[in-house]
Amino acid sequence: MSLKEFSSQDSQLRISLTSSFTDQKPGTSGLRKSTKHFFQPHYLESFVEAIFQTLSGVEGGILVLGGDGRFGNTQAIDVILRMAAAHGVKKVITTVNGILSTPAASHLIRIKKAVGGIILSASHNSGGPEGDFGVKLNGPNGGPAAESLTDEIFECTQTLGGYKIFKDSQISLDEPGKYFIGSMSVEVIDGIEDYIDLMQNIFDFDKISSFLKNDFLIAFDALNAVTGPYAKKILEDILGANSGTVRNGKPLEDFGGCHPDPNLTYAKDLADLLLYGNQYSFGAACDGDGDRNMILGRNCFVNPSDSLAILTANATCVPAYSDGLLGVARSMPTSSAVDVVAKELGIACFETPTGWKFFGNLLDSGEITLCGEESFGTGSNHVREKDGLWAVLFWLQILANKQCSVKDLMHQHWNQFGRHYYSRHDYESISSDIAHDLFNSVESKLTSLVGHPFAGINVVKADNFTYKDPVDNSVTLRQGLRILLEDGSRVVLRLSGTGTKGATLRIYLESYVSSNGNLIQDPQVALSKLIRSIDSFAEVTKRTGMLEPTVIT
Ligand code: G1P
Ligand code: ZN
Repeated sequence: MSLKEFSSQDSQLRISLTSSFTDQKPGTSGLRKSTKHFFQPHYLESFVEAIFQTLSGVEGGILVLGGDGRFGNTQAIDVILRMAAAHGVKKVITTVNGILSTPAASHLIRIKKAVGGIILSASHNSGGPEGDFGVKLNGPNGGPAAESLTDEIFECTQTLGGYKIFKDSQISLDEPGKYFIGSMSVEVIDGIEDYIDLMQNIFDFDKISSFLKNDFLIAFDALNAVTGPYAKKILEDILGANSGTVRNGKPLEDFGGCHPDPNLTYAKDLADLLLYGNQYSFGAACDGDGDRNMILGRNCFVNPSDSLAILTANATCVPAYSDGLLGVARSMPTSSAVDVVAKELGIACFETPTGWKFFGNLLDSGEITLCGEESFGTGSNHVREKDGLWAVLFWLQILANKQCSVKDLMHQHWNQFGRHYYSRHDYESISSDIAHDLFNSVESKLTSLVGHPFAGINVVKADNFTYKDPVDNSVTLRQGLRILLEDGSRVVLRLSGTGTKGATLRIYLESYVSSNGNLIQDPQVALSKLIRSIDSFAEVTKRTGMLEPTVIT
């Protein structure tokens, strides 16, 4: 891609490109690339041009813009503001220092009646000049753009002849203010207040606050990413948790060199504090852009699949859900723990492919109230994204109402509903060829499994998951390989759609023990037969040379 022509008319530029730009179709989470790749000349601009040419209502519409504070955030905001003005956008709402978490952006899009939002983030991927950058588009319902729209954007990038941009702008993101670029107004707002109002309307803050003041010490790790300012205000200033409760609370451009992913590997300091210490009763962490959450209790880790089930079972503790839930949904690889609760409550439970966008129709049409994924994502109909801090507050509300510890709540849950032992094994940075060969080979052998034992149990079904959306009847094929066993155990295999280096193979393992079985085993022990069987069937060690997974959750 090179510059052919550079012509100026007044304050606007029309930049022509000699060839089209993109080398990758944007995925479910937008376009994610290394920072270096993103900031090569005209790359960001070309993708944004395709968005503005494709998204309906851009001319004369309102747009929300912000990001997780990673390297490139404010630079990209400057470019997008100047391009928005050149495309006739009426108003852009952006935030101080460009800081806007993904759930807060979703909420702003909804309350400001925007045509959409652009979120600058590569979520839980590392940041900085050597890390990753990303541009994500959300639609007017506040949720990730539908696949049909991202497909159209991709088509547009293939024939892009150039882009339109204002030459310069005089906007400061240092504090709230109002500006103009040409005839487009730019509102720089605080970015945190509207989100806090929303949380105060959902939860009983007074009840949580008195519970925390009653010697219930909590620790929150923002991993040097976007949730720091939100968490400080909510947990410390409003709920009265001790100062210092929020660790790593200042958003840094490179996340302090850390990987902002709230799991036992990347949030190890917090995990050690809770799992091996006695000081804190509750711990939580969120990811780079604030949509993921990890919940820990004293000496215990809450598996995200169990978290969804526990929130569902105790939803009426929260004022906003006190009338009960419409229904729930989980992504296919998420454990069936929530299904058992939904059955008991007599509400519908939907199984969708991986990715938050699949919950959009169910939320918009009022089929469900809560939804979640095994990958530390939980949310409700209050926005159209998963929401990390909301999940933390939900947990605190339940504990405050029940006046119990995290561990007690989990044990009570398993005693009532049985336990779904669950683990995800990730093999990262495998060469793409090896990963695809492995995957295709497993797929080709699936039918031979049916009717035969796997890990000593009969296989009842083995397929590549197909989803039919119950709202619009659209069909999505090939969403993950499933091996379903007679006793309800299962193994699922997927290749990640969000990694930026090589391929990542995810293996999901699940087995159910009823309430009178052994409920306190280590999941890796409880699942050991499945682990051994899938390694030998899929030839993971043999083909990748990796003796163990990169991350075990
Ligand atoms: C991962 C998670 C998935 C989540 C997505 C975006 O995608 O597994 O549940 O929706 O990140 O946060 P994957 O890399 O598995 O395609
Ligand atoms: Zn995220």
